[in-house]
Amino acid sequence: MNILLAIESSCDDTGAAVSRNGKILSNVVAGQVIHRQYGGVVPELASRAHQRHIVPVVQMALEEAGVSVADLDSIAFTRGPGLMGSLLVGVSFAKAMALSLEIPLIEVNHLHAHLIAHFIDEPVPPFPFLCLLVSGGHTQIIRVEDHLNYQIIGRTIDDAAGEAFDKAAKVLDLPYPGGPLIDKLAREGNRYAFHFTEPSIPALDYSFSGLKTSLLYFLRDRIKEDEDFIKNNLADICASYQHRIVDFLLSKLRKAAAETGIRHIAIAGGVAANSELRRRLDELAAEEGWATYIPAFEYCTDNAAMIAMAGHFKWLAKEFAGQDLPPFARVS
Ligand code: KG4
Ligand code: ZN
Repeated sequence: MNILLAIESSCDDTGAAVSRNGKILSNVVAGQVIHRQYGGVVPELASRAHQRHIVPVVQMALEEAGVSVADLDSIAFTRGPGLMGSLLVGVSFAKAMALSLEIPLIEVNHLHAHLIAHFIDEPVPPFPFLCLLVSGGHTQIIRVEDHLNYQIIGRTIDDAAGEAFDKAAKVLDLPYPGGPLIDKLAREGNRYAFHFTEPSIPALDYSFSGLKTSLLYFLRDRIKEDEDFIKNNLADICASYQHRIVDFLLSKLRKAAAETGIRHIAIAGGVAANSELRRRLDELAAEEGWATYIPAFEYCTDNAAMIAMAGHFKWLAKEFAGQDLPPFARVS
């Protein structure tokens, strides 16, 4: 029997989940609205909010699962990558709890957990599969060999896809996070109204910072001619910009599938909620003969259920962590 408590605190969401033998019993997330006014996550504010949230979030997860602290068999936590101050809150909390309960501690890599989110509900992808992980912090194509082994075969060399949405929103004077709103506005717009050039990046890698800069210059020039340019063309700007991001994401994914010969294709991360990405992935899958996998939205964005799931697979493999393990901010 493995009743596991999982803790996620890598960015701006404090999450706790409880699972029994790999079945999720509860999944609680406390978001942080404080960052909205700054147009992005402020690390120092994030770690302070984690400190305030972690005890009530863990209590709620235990209550919802109908589990008491004494029932726990193991504790999994996100070790990294993420914001150092935020990670430290979850890591310290998990270590202290495991020490006092004298139960095993399991470290989880946040990226690994995003992949393992595909194993929370049916249908689960067969191995090997490719996962396009797209969130505010990551843009990667990962070849997943089994529950514990994976290889990053493509990655962004600068901003993540979610950041491309969020930074564009800031330029367009839209609230943070920008992705959901740009997605909504784009539905009313013409995606061919304006042309943004696709970044030229070798291999299976991505780059999104140039796209944001090209939007900035484009708007600056147009505003010189019409000061209400953004207001008068908002839906078309959103549609054209989003179209370029989705095109870029899918062109590299298609290349990865061709190079590896893998036909089972998964997407994960907050940007996986994007309606154009989902629609065009379906179209591409029909053309290419792919089977596709997208976790429920609550398991796409940062959550502790995916940490519990990854923790459970490590528990089965008896991969436990020591009390001396430090968090890490970046993938080395
Ligand atoms: O996975 P996530 O919740 O957190 C990180 O690990 O970063 O992803 C958040 C990101 C934000 O950048 C947000 O703008 C983006 O996901 N996002 C979207 C949509 N919903 C969320 N981007 C595009 N379209 C959406 N519908
Ligand atoms: Zn994430």
